[in-house]
Amino acid sequence: MGLLLPILLAFLAALIGALYLLGVFRQRLPGEPPLDKGLIPWLGHVFEFRRDTLKFLERMKQKHGDVFTVQLGGFYITFLQDPESFGAFVKESREKLDFSKFAVHLVRRVFGYVAVQDEHHILQTSSNKHLKGDGLEVMTQAMMSNLQNLMLHNISSAADQRDWIDDGLFMYCYNIVFRAGYLSLYGNVPHNSRESEEKAKEKDRTESEALFYEFRKYDQLFPNLAYGILSPRQKSEAERLMKFFWNFLSVQNMKTKDNISRWVWDMHQARVEMGMKDSMINKYMFVLLWASQGNTGPSSFWLLLYLMKHPEAMKAVKEEVDKVLRESGQEVQRGGPLINLTREMLTKTPVLDSAIDETLRLTAAPLLTRAVLQDMTLKMADGREYFIRKGDRMAMFPYVVHIDPEIHPDPQSFKYDRFLNPDGKKKTEFYKAGKKLKYYNMPWGAGVSMCPGRFFATNELKQFAFLMLVYFEFELKNPDEKIPEIDFRRWGFGTMQPQKDVPFRYRLRY
Ligand code: HEM
Repeated sequence: MGLLLPILLAFLAALIGALYLLGVFRQRLPGEPPLDKGLIPWLGHVFEFRRDTLKFLERMKQKHGDVFTVQLGGFYITFLQDPESFGAFVKESREKLDFSKFAVHLVRRVFGYVAVQDEHHILQTSSNKHLKGDGLEVMTQAMMSNLQNLMLHNISSAADQRDWIDDGLFMYCYNIVFRAGYLSLYGNVPHNSRESEEKAKEKDRTESEALFYEFRKYDQLFPNLAYGILSPRQKSEAERLMKFFWNFLSVQNMKTKDNISRWVWDMHQARVEMGMKDSMINKYMFVLLWASQGNTGPSSFWLLLYLMKHPEAMKAVKEEVDKVLRESGQEVQRGGPLINLTREMLTKTPVLDSAIDETLRLTAAPLLTRAVLQDMTLKMADGREYFIRKGDRMAMFPYVVHIDPEIHPDPQSFKYDRFLNPDGKKKTEFYKAGKKLKYYNMPWGAGVSMCPGRFFATNELKQFAFLMLVYFEFELKNPDEKIPEIDFRRWGFGTMQPQKDVPFRYRLRY
């Protein structure tokens, strides 16, 4: 008996401790948002959330209103769903809502990269210099010549290019845009004569093709990798792929290239100066590849698909593109020089801009997450206040705004001119409950983690669409083909992907 009591007490203490850690005792305190822990200890709602994030958040909103805290895999996450109050999340100080802590954890698990102190600052400085303003000019030129290499390299020689070519639209778009983006950021195979230039370009094409196919494998594993639920076989495949990328993008390999973008080079250099080992810099190069190439390809697919499914949109965009080309004094001619699409020309396409914004409204669905570093008060636009606990997380899923019928009438339909005013200028006035909104379309996220590549990404999409429209005829194999469902497993990871590819065909116009 003397021994039994301490054992029983120890067991009881361990049990209470375990239940505490599982979140069983957490209760909603006065002033806190409604709390929904779900039925499964610790895991909470994670399965329903993973199955279909949008559906789950809509269900929670109906049950609890536009602010609520849910338990997801050991975390308590407060979701904010009222677009008028988004500013309270986006503009909160970093001492209270921190993006880095969450990001550091994710990149370590998913890319093997151990972040450094000044991480985010270096990224922002380099992005401000090289993905905006004059830097963007250089990037846009690089993208143009790489797109030309991939899409038009045999324009003057191959008669068979004038025959129809069958392909899957998703794989076609993703392949070209990924490879051109990669070459523009990570550089080209060098050459020193006209003859070797052709060989170097060919090498760029074959190397980037190999990279794309490995990238797609990783891409498909990514949602489960990020949630840490890969099977042992998938896990070893993910590890193999990671090693492949670290090697492919290694500092050593990079140094053999020409035209490395200043964006990539500066971030590499900053880490060298910090004394970071090459092997860790290689891992960072993979982080950058992922961030820069995972969304633009899928977005270009949706853009072309929506245009093909909406002839009035296709007509309006094509007319605009032809006009911009004409006004630049250029013309596409068989055997003539390739057109040069400058950044300036890309500033004269409000219709295409609107079609891109509309495409991203329907297909970009990031989940913005912050760690709560201090107890804080969330102040809503209508005056409500909620107490948020230190140690929790806060999140926003802007897609709920993208498809809010009060903000965007008939929200499931693609309307290419939704973001155009009658005078042909960009439309920026959208309302909810009679109040003008600042946050009505957020494909790039917002605040401290807002996509630093958004201007370059938009230009990439425009350049690709522009070249497709002026150089190629393209059409769906089955004009009645329905727009495929999106793959719900990818909610929260940026641009969505289709559940299946869409057969199409294309051929050179000239
Ligand atoms: C259509 C294409 C793209 C979309 C929809 C997109 C979307 C996003 C979103 C939503 C985020 C924020 C994620 C968060 O808050 O957690 C983000 C971050 C980021 N994006 Fe993009 N992006 C695109 C293309 C690009 C390109 C082309 C680049 C680079 C050239 C790029 C570089 C980055 C980087 C480095 C971050 C991390 C930012 C940080 O840590 O603060 N993205 N992107």
